[in-house]
Amino acid sequence: QCINVILSGGSGTRLWPLSRKSRPKQFLKLFNGRSIFQHTIERNKKIVDDFMLITNASQLSTAHEQVAEIGGSIYKEIIEPVGRNTAPAIALACLAVDPETILFVTPSDQMIGDDASYHQSIQRAKTLAKDGYLVTFGICPKYPETGFGYIEASGEDVIRFREKPDFKTAQIYIDSGNFYWNSGMFCFKAATYLSELRKYQPIILEACIKAHGGISNNEVPLELMEAIPDESIDYAVLEHSTLVKTVPSSFEWTDLGSFDSLLAYGQQYQNVSGLKRIEGTQNSYSLSDKLVVSSGLDGLLVVDTFDAILVLPIGESHLVKDIYNSVKRTK
Ligand code: GDD
Ligand code: MG
Repeated sequence: QCINVILSGGSGTRLWPLSRKSRPKQFLKLFNGRSIFQHTIERNKKIVDDFMLITNASQLSTAHEQVAEIGGSIYKEIIEPVGRNTAPAIALACLAVDPETILFVTPSDQMIGDDASYHQSIQRAKTLAKDGYLVTFGICPKYPETGFGYIEASGEDVIRFREKPDFKTAQIYIDSGNFYWNSGMFCFKAATYLSELRKYQPIILEACIKAHGGISNNEVPLELMEAIPDESIDYAVLEHSTLVKTVPSSFEWTDLGSFDSLLAYGQQYQNVSGLKRIEGTQNSYSLSDKLVVSSGLDGLLVVDTFDAILVLPIGESHLVKDIYNSVKRTK
């Protein structure tokens, strides 16, 4: 049995004002009228037996609406009162299933090409997962991104996993030629992840076992959740484990972590709803249902929503987090 665990955290800051606390980016219907969350379910339903959703209470009703819209179904939900990052979220998923179950863990901030090569990569990952490995997917790196994990590999064998290196190190990795970007998707048996977590992060595992034991109505009690250390699977397990493998992958993969990556994606695939070049400019864009015009202004992105408009220099989308914090909109 293979279950797709969809991790849906996110605070809705980096694509503000499009995304909001109650509607983080994975639920924005930006891509051919569907959200990343909906695309994930549609893409994966051909290759998994069921879906599990790990999320927080404020996203739940949106998730349910969007699952219903595409006629999908989620067999299990785990609700986190507060996020403790991916190492605990994935541990809670593992504790909820039979130890021999294969989990295919996917984030909800990426767009992926749904084609034969994607399916082949997942099939290979399932085989390696059955053999007791923690399987990652290696994406051919394009530039020295510091927000990703890097996998040093020889074929499927992983020499080293390194999460979020600094720029200089990332550049060295890119130049050396045998590093991949970590896709952020993982495949393993529940038992494999739990035993590696026990080996390298026994405190996290113990806290997760307690939290799992306290679950009622699918929800982890707040005090048990707060007692779990905050750590990602990448730092907590993948940097340490000797059981990590990678499937070198060639499917289309885009992390949509910012307006700049959304813009680049939209320019490449022409399928981002509402994204248009602003009339009267060479290189300015609007994300809006309205007609946006200008004359002479260049290099701007205008994001228009019902109660807020963001005007941002293209290439500076890292500023959005600060803008969000200074505006402190909680909607
Ligand atoms: N349920 C739940 N609870 N989900 C969470 C939590 C949590 O506490 N924290 C994060 N998530 C979800 C996010 O919503 C996202 O879909 C996914 O888990 C990954 O978390 P990010 O916070 O986006 O991780 P990252 O982008 O910094 O890094 C990861 O992804 C990169 C590729 O996009 C790492 O795996 C990197 O190694 C990888 O390169
Ligand atoms: Mg991410």
